[in-house]
Amino acid sequence: MIQRPRGTRDILPPESRLWAAVEATARDVFHAFGAEEIRTPVFEATELFVRSVGEATDIVHKEMYTFPDRKGRSLTLRPENTASVARAWIENGLSERSHPLRLYYIGPMFRYERMQRGRYRQFAQIGLEILGAASSLADVEILLVLHELFTRLGFDDLVIHLNNLGDPEDRPRYVAVVRERLEPHRAELCGDCQRRLDENPLRILDCKVPRCQELAAAVPGIDEVAGEPSRTHVAAVERQLEALGIAYRRNPRLVRGLDYYLRTVFEVVSPQLGTGTVLCGGGRYDRLISDLGGPAIPGTGFAIGEDRLIDVLPDRFRHDVLATPRLILVPLGETAEERAMVLARDWVRAGVPVEVEVSGRSLKAALKRADRERASAVAILGDDELAAGNVAVRDLTAGTQEHVAIGAVPEWWRRRG
Ligand code: HAM
Repeated sequence: MIQRPRGTRDILPPESRLWAAVEATARDVFHAFGAEEIRTPVFEATELFVRSVGEATDIVHKEMYTFPDRKGRSLTLRPENTASVARAWIENGLSERSHPLRLYYIGPMFRYERMQRGRYRQFAQIGLEILGAASSLADVEILLVLHELFTRLGFDDLVIHLNNLGDPEDRPRYVAVVRERLEPHRAELCGDCQRRLDENPLRILDCKVPRCQELAAAVPGIDEVAGEPSRTHVAAVERQLEALGIAYRRNPRLVRGLDYYLRTVFEVVSPQLGTGTVLCGGGRYDRLISDLGGPAIPGTGFAIGEDRLIDVLPDRFRHDVLATPRLILVPLGETAEERAMVLARDWVRAGVPVEVEVSGRSLKAALKRADRERASAVAILGDDELAAGNVAVRDLTAGTQEHVAIGAVPEWWRRRG
């Protein structure tokens, strides 16, 4: 049998309902804050990610699905979408539009990762970017939208970790500090980190190898070498979060796994998943668009891992979505079967979710299935009902049965709530 590739998933019903509901909630919240959707290709020129995410990152170094197309051009399945949004900004001349632009996306990303819980090779992200606003207010808005979305989904136990990465001008000072501390321990670092020590020592701080983590723990936090402008910026973000009552934790060890960030960075962690499996990551990237050859347009944003989000979705939201009421219409006999689709059409148009029993089951088998499927009610259409112009409706939750005129079923459905 042909199996799906490792690290990919089939999202089946009823779980697919959760995905649809989460995405609908995200769209509602994004639209409410003035964001609009952007859809970019799932594959891009490889160079885009090499230049934006960074050559020395794990993502570019070992997690990209890169392949030559038939003309030998190197393409990559997008491992993240901020780079694509930046590329789209430049390519479509979005600087011509009034700033800032709030752009959101929901879609699949691809990373060739080692298999473990919460880590997939195709996974979905729900992301938001604000482009064209350098102010700390934009960072606060990003975190506010994020907080609002999580609140609507019923979360109350998530923790926002926040840090200040400083400006690119501060980076060489910090790189020097990291090198000075870790050079004496070079031989104890993993092979990758020995390479990182030369290429991009910052990346050692997010290495997952325990010994490297121990050594990295002794290095001073990056926020300690951050310059005054970035300190003022992040302090303003913190002040406004406090005013909004959005709880956060300052985490000087947080550096994020992508190279384009500066100043504000954050991650959202769920106590259910632990700190190793981050639910959402984001931050500010004011030089990304100019580094890619575009104008100097600042940006800030986040992306939530939708697979992980669904994994820890609060029971209340999960229950409300899965308990969506449904009416099953069971036609008995040929004449009833012929009428069934007309009724289904009319009821659906009147707002009743109808599932017609099209398999020709006996009434007993149909009721058994309705029960198993946790349908809310069954409408039975037999010869007697046809003659009388009604249906026998059985409320499976209340355990009651009555006859209702065919045209009055939508009204009956609304009343039962
Ligand atoms: P990231 O931290 O690489 O950031 O990914 C964001 C989120 O995607 C992670 O927090 C995680 O929940 C999810 N994720 C990443 N890899 C996997 C995987 N293999 N399986 C399941 N979920 C995964 C970015 O991608 C940035 N573009 C975020 C951003 C937007 N920064 C600014 N704007």
